[in-house]
Amino acid sequence: MAVVTLQSRENHQDLIVTPSPNLSLQGRIRVPGDKSISHRALMLGAIASGETTIEGLLLGEDPRSTAACFRAMGAEISELNEAKVTVKGIGLGQLQEPQDVLNAGNSGTTLRLMLGLLAASRDRFFTVTGDNSLRSRPMSRVIQPLRQMGAEIWGRNGDTLAPLAVRGQQLKGIHYISPIASAQVKSCLLLAGLSASGKTTVTEPALSRDHSERMLQAFGAKLEVDTRTNSVGIYGQEGELKGQHVIVPGDISSAAFWLVAAAIVPGSELVVENVGVNPTRTGILEALGEMGGDITLENERLVAGEPVADLRARYSKLKGCTISGQIIPRLIDEIPILAVAAIAAQGTTQIRDAAELRVKESDRLAVTAAHLNRMGATVSELPDGLEISGGANLTGAEMDSYTDHRIAMSFAIAALRAKGETTVRRAEAASISYPEFFQTLEQICV
Ligand code: S3P
Repeated sequence: MAVVTLQSRENHQDLIVTPSPNLSLQGRIRVPGDKSISHRALMLGAIASGETTIEGLLLGEDPRSTAACFRAMGAEISELNEAKVTVKGIGLGQLQEPQDVLNAGNSGTTLRLMLGLLAASRDRFFTVTGDNSLRSRPMSRVIQPLRQMGAEIWGRNGDTLAPLAVRGQQLKGIHYISPIASAQVKSCLLLAGLSASGKTTVTEPALSRDHSERMLQAFGAKLEVDTRTNSVGIYGQEGELKGQHVIVPGDISSAAFWLVAAAIVPGSELVVENVGVNPTRTGILEALGEMGGDITLENERLVAGEPVADLRARYSKLKGCTISGQIIPRLIDEIPILAVAAIAAQGTTQIRDAAELRVKESDRLAVTAAHLNRMGATVSELPDGLEISGGANLTGAEMDSYTDHRIAMSFAIAALRAKGETTVRRAEAASISYPEFFQTLEQICV
C-alpha cells in the first residue's frame, strides 16, 4: 500500500505520498490521449474544410488552451470529451481576427504551432500570450525562421518572448536548417508553409516526433519526407485540407511514469493499454531496455496511421547507462522520469545532449537534480545533462513542482521508492497533460 492524498493549500494542491515497506504496483490501466496528437487534431480540424471528429482527445489543460484559441478565431469546436469532439473547420487561410488576446496558457506547442498559422493569415492582427512559464520560454526559434519567410512578429525582450503581436502576411517558402531537433519548430514552419508560396523545407539535426507530417498527409497536404537527411518539405497553396476522423492513442509520455514505477518498485507488474508507439517517441522503451528493464509490447496494431500497443512492465534490477545523441529527441519529455529510474539502477547513468530541457516548462535539469539530491541521491547537473549515481536509498522530502506537470508526476513516482513521507507542492500541475494521474496512482498501489 501507499497512502496518496491531495491537500488544498492557498489555491494549490499538495500531493502527499507515504509508501508502506511492502508496496507493489499492480493492474491494467489506460493513459489519456497523446498531447501532441491532440493539439494537432484540433488545429488541423480548425483549418481544414468540412468536419473533423476526434476520438480519445486529451482533456488536459494544454489542449483546452488550443481549443479556446481556435474557437476565438472562428472554429466551431464542440465541448471537449473523450468519446467524440467535433470540429467544424473554417478552411485554410480563413482564421478570423480574434477580438481579444489569444492565451496559450502553459502550452509551448499551442503557441509555437499556432504562430505559423497566424503569421500566414494575411492582413489580420493577433496578440498571443501565455502563463508565467510560457512567457519566459524562447520564441526566437520560431520567430526567426518565420521572419525569413516574410512574417511580421513583435514581442518582449527584443522580439523573443511572449506576449507577441503578429500581423499576418503572404509568406514565401524557404529551406530552413534548424539548429535544434524540435517538432514544435518543424511543425510551426510546416503550418506556415501550407499557405506560403512555393516549397517550405525544414531540415533538423536529429529526427523529432513526426505527428504533424503524418496528420498533414492524412488531411491531404502534399509533403516530401527525406529520412536520410531528416528533412520534410511542404508545398503551399496546393488546395484545401479535408476534415478527417482522428483516433488519438494513449500518450507514451504519460505511460512512461507507470513503466518506470513498475520497474523500480519490487514485485510490480503493470499493463498500460492502448499506448502510441510511434518510433519517433519510443526512446523511453529503448533506454529502459538498455538499463535492463522488463517491458514487452503486446497486441501491436496500427490505429488511424499511428502504431499502438499495450505495454507490460515488470520490476527488474536496473543498471546505469549513457543516454545521448540521436535518441534524445525521441525521449525528450521522459528525461525527468528516466532520472528517477537511474536512482534505482546499479552504477552511474549519464544523460547528455539534453540542454533543451533547460527551456521546457521549468529548467528540468536543475529541478530534477535539486529534487533528487534533496531526497538523498547524488546527482550532478551537467551543462547539457545529468550524472546520476545509482543505488541511493531515497528519503521522503518536501519539494515544489515549479508548476511543471512532468516534475510533479516524476516526483510522485520517486516518492514510491523513498522512506517516509514526500510532499509535492503545486501538484495540480499534472492536469496539464494527465488530469487523472493521482487517481490512477492510488488505484495501482497494493
Ligand atoms: C512537442 C514537442 C517537444 C515536446 C513537447 C511537445 C510537440 O518540444 O517537448 O512536449 O507536440 O511538438 P520541442 O519540439 O520544442 O522539443
